[in-house]
Amino acid sequence: MGREDLREWLSALEETGELKRVRTEVHWDLELAAIVRKVGNENGPGLLFDNITGCRTTHCRKLTANSLGSRKRVALALGLSPETGYFEMTRFLKKKFGEKIAPVALRTGPVKRNVIRDDVDLFQFPVPKWHAEDGGRYILTAAGIVTADRETKVMNVGVYRGMLSSQKTIPVLMPATQHGGRHFSQYQARGEEMPVAVVIGWDPIFFITAATPVRHPGYSEYEIMGALRGSPVELVKCETSDLMVPANAEIVIEGKISPDPATFEMEGPFGEYPGYFGGAASRKPVIRVECVTFRDDPIFMGTLEGQSPGKLDEGSHFTCAAMSAVAWNLLDDIGVPNVTGAWCKPVVAGTNLRVQIKKIYRGQAKQVANALWGAGYYLAKNLIVVDDDIDIYDDDAVEWAIAWRTNAAMGDFAFFPGTFGSLYDPSVPLKERDALKYGQGKWTRILTDATINWDLELEEQFGGKRYPPLSTAIDPDTEQKILARWKEYEID
Ligand SMILES: Cc1cc2nc3c(=O)[nH]c(=O)nc-3n(C[C@H](O)[C@H](O)[C@H](O)COP(=O)(O)O)c2cc1C
Repeated sequence: MGREDLREWLSALEETGELKRVRTEVHWDLELAAIVRKVGNENGPGLLFDNITGCRTTHCRKLTANSLGSRKRVALALGLSPETGYFEMTRFLKKKFGEKIAPVALRTGPVKRNVIRDDVDLFQFPVPKWHAEDGGRYILTAAGIVTADRETKVMNVGVYRGMLSSQKTIPVLMPATQHGGRHFSQYQARGEEMPVAVVIGWDPIFFITAATPVRHPGYSEYEIMGALRGSPVELVKCETSDLMVPANAEIVIEGKISPDPATFEMEGPFGEYPGYFGGAASRKPVIRVECVTFRDDPIFMGTLEGQSPGKLDEGSHFTCAAMSAVAWNLLDDIGVPNVTGAWCKPVVAGTNLRVQIKKIYRGQAKQVANALWGAGYYLAKNLIVVDDDIDIYDDDAVEWAIAWRTNAAMGDFAFFPGTFGSLYDPSVPLKERDALKYGQGKWTRILTDATINWDLELEEQFGGKRYPPLSTAIDPDTEQKILARWKEYEID
């Protein structure tokens, strides 16, 4: 199912008109990103730029973005039919995130074709300035950062943003609530440097999986990528550490992050996924680059973040299904019974999550909230739980349930203050979102329990039910009667 490499994926898209090449000269400074934004806002194709100002003689001349910028293309990347909707896609990902196929190690691969150690200059890559207010040129947007647990050596791959601060340095935002950040805290505790490898450009499944908080107790994202691809991921060892990276990756940046705060550098602000600039500039840990390896004629990959009503970014097209699948698996794993669905709409990147349950006891919605938030599901600031007669993909149905199945006086809204939250949520005071000081942001989470409240009395008049019958259905006898006489009414 998987693609051999980024090139195979882009060629497949180009053949079907899902990718357009931009051959005209385009500047990396805002112009390129503005094109990506306009195309994204108009639900347009993936893009491959191959004439970027100042890049004719550098290591890398090409940049791709937005190749996953539609539901159809996400479905294709996952090996599903292009018509697959989010209902099926979420179920597919739920299943695959629970499977694993172990990777295999190769001696070498195309990504080793060019190896640069002493003369590393990251400005040799077409790194865009994405937004006018960004603190710099962001090299890590669609990049997977590989780290390893210091004790178990199990590898993690996560997407964390990073900015160029010099030819060889990248300050990164890797909060301690993320797996890469947790690994860093292990090294920090011992005063040791942490090895990292940044992978840019491979099978699109790599980006999807790396950007999803999949749970992988005792194994790594590489196993899950294997399950999604239906074949083992082929890895090669890094030049400067024991970390492993895909043999067919376009570009790999290897380096170390020092725990010494004196080495931290200013990073940010950056146009973030909520559609606002995320946080103020602050000092962050820095990847000190020791080596860069890349294929011949490598293709750089970036993504433009930022969602707002009617405007989705590339990530929203897959994080909606992926994050819903992760939440659903987590609830099943913890043992919350009868969870029949989970869904977060593309425009909110998991911040508002709907969960559907077939309720069998009082307090089950609160159990959903406790399980999700307690297990460290860092999304779901606003959690809505509904009964299984409410379609979570239908906004009207969810609105209706909130209107008529909630009663604040009976505990249907529960607040959970002081939890960790997004660093980029502008509704939270900026000083509460200091990554260095607190490790994360701060959210008061809220559960909206829009299931029928079992504390309501059973009503005699409704046949012993807590809720009256729906009055919007026509009783069968009368319906038969009016249908038999329908023509007489002369309505149609
Ligand atoms: C385009 C994009 C950019 C992201 N940037 C960041 C980031 O800068 N920092 C962060 O903590 N998470 C970021 N995320 C979310 C993480 O990639 C996601 O939570 C992932 O699960 C992290 O990997 P981990 O669960 O292995 O820690 C980003 C996601 C996407 C799609």
